[in-house]
Amino acid sequence: MPIETIFSLMRRKSLYQSFPEHVILSPNTMDLGDIGRWVVKHLGDIGHEQRVLRISSTLFDLTRELHGLSYSARRILRAAALVHDVGRSIDKEHHPMVGAGMILRSRSLRLSDSDRRVLAFLTHYHRDEVPAFGDEEILDEGHDREELRKILALLRTADALDSRSLESPRLVFGLKRKRLKITCWLQDVTGKVRRVYERRRKFRLLEEELGCAVEVDVKAAEALQLVA
Ligand SMILES: [Fe+2]
Repeated sequence: MPIETIFSLMRRKSLYQSFPEHVILSPNTMDLGDIGRWVVKHLGDIGHEQRVLRISSTLFDLTRELHGLSYSARRILRAAALVHDVGRSIDKEHHPMVGAGMILRSRSLRLSDSDRRVLAFLTHYHRDEVPAFGDEEILDEGHDREELRKILALLRTADALDSRSLESPRLVFGLKRKRLKITCWLQDVTGKVRRVYERRRKFRLLEEELGCAVEVDVKAAEALQLVA
């Protein structure tokens, strides 16, 4: 059996259900250093990607009880945070689709075929419409679609909580049972900032996949200084 097939099978919960905490490491496993260098080559500045990586990791850890994903899923999420906007180097408007194509075709991005498809899938759907379950393109039979939709939900949420062009908020997360409260603290709260960070639809997939309610609040940092 090819090693790729074995890893695809191992990703399936049925084969590793007695070990919810499992990690898959092989010479082909996503190397964040390599991936980051590949993204820098295309985008130059990856400040936004690094912030999305930190936000998504924090969200993953905080909501662990709700998503029940393995440590391997965390690695996938972090890698996706790095690559998700790479298509902007070619076409800003259609960057999710263009980026997915770049990931699928690149020879300098060293990934297994399975991981390449996973990162292309997450990049393709990190913005706009999400396909109905089972209608996802790019993935093949061996991929765990349920797990990948949860990872996608975390990625989309993290991406929505940072911006390439606006001030990046300081974020405070709170989780109480199935209620996730996110406060974005900013120096300058304009109407535009509020519109960007409070976009409800950006958090819908997370609410669906994790069965939780997301509340987002944008606050001026001066208010924080007054409280302190
Ligand atoms: Fe982004």
